[in-house]
Amino acid sequence: MKRTFVACLALISFILISCGSPAEQSTEEPAVTRTQSGGMALVNFETPDFSGSGNCAMCHVSLNDSAGNDVSIGSHWRSTMMANAAKDPFWQAKMASEVARTPELKEVIEAKCSSCHMPMAYTQADTDGSPALLLGNGFLNTGNPLNPAAMDGVSCTVCHQIVDPVLGTYFIDTTTEPPDRLIYGPYENPEQTIMMNTSDFRPVFGEQIAGSVLCGTCH
Ligand code: HEC
Ligand code: HEC
Ligand code: HEC
Ligand code: HEC
Repeated sequence: MKRTFVACLALISFILISCGSPAEQSTEEPAVTRTQSGGMALVNFETPDFSGSGNCAMCHVSLNDSAGNDVSIGSHWRSTMMANAAKDPFWQAKMASEVARTPELKEVIEAKCSSCHMPMAYTQADTDGSPALLLGNGFLNTGNPLNPAAMDGVSCTVCHQIVDPVLGTYFIDTTTEPPDRLIYGPYENPEQTIMMNTSDFRPVFGEQIAGSVLCGTCH
């Protein structure tokens, strides 16, 4: 009995070892390879006052540190909670449950929640005089013209267009036209023509970009 048990153990060990031996493992490439630049493409929409992150990342890309790591703005931003503020299923569920609980405040709740989680679609609708709605035919519906702007979340042309930030409220100047829509950055006297010709935005220095109040407009 004891001998059979030991023999069984030896056999099981042998099978386990042979299965796990590196020589038997496949050396083929996996069917899907993910690179740092992989995943869904950044979007390329344009509205009168905003532009998709893909339009900005097009030039602000291919920044590598001395060790060769990709430190491009778009590559880092795309995986942040802010890039995903509209796609976030927890946020969508919380917003929908608030509406279901207090249906008489549907418009108020949807506009409020979109103002920080979908700031481009909210601000554009507000500027155009159309309601900022989320459910039904609202921003979450792929047929809504502002859906791409909504789903791009807290994107490049939000933070970089904020002027005179105050805690709890951001203000974006929607009265300017291309190429005088300003994109504020941390540097003085940037080269302007390249970006103006392609993106319709003019990069300028803005001291507000270095202050924490910029973030406090929503946080
Ligand atoms: C003034 C801006 C602002 C408004 C308006 C706003 N949010 Fe947020 N929300 C934030 C910020 C900023 C965070 C991230 C907070 C943190 O993690 O420190 C957040 C986070 C959340 C989270 C957590 C998400 C997660 O995955 O952890 C939920 C849920 C949420 N918000 C729901 C809502 C709902 C529902 C509404 C509308 C009733 C709303 N928010 C309106 C700014 C806002
Ligand atoms: C949440 C707000 C926010 C978002 C979203 C954001 N930025 Fe910025 N960005 C900043 C702030 C703040 C700075 C200044 C950082 C500093 O001074 O060190 C900055 C700096 C920059 C700079 C100067 C870079 C440098 O080398 O110092 C560029 C270019 C830029 N951002 C482009 C982008 C692009 C492109 C996107 C979208 C893919 C984007 N930003 C999204 C807030 C934001
Ligand atoms: C055609 C290429 C191109 C595109 C597209 C582009 N940029 Fe730029 N961007 C530049 C160049 C060039 C500079 C100036 C660099 C310099 O002066 O060293 C610049 C500078 C900036 C700065 C820094 C300004 C400062 O003074 O600190 C920010 C912020 C910025 N871009 C954001 C954006 C955003 C947001 C978008 C999308 C709407 C965008 N860029 C699209 C080429 C581009
Ligand atoms: C237009 C509104 C807005 C602005 C401006 C903004 N944020 Fe956010 N931020 C949000 C929202 C909304 C979320 C939450 C997204 C979610 O969880 O669904 C968030 C989430 C974050 C998170 C993730 C928090 C967590 O608990 O995971 C960090 C970190 C953050 N923001 C930093 C910043 C910084 C730094 C700045 C300024 C440079 C800034 N934010 C400016 C709206 C904003």
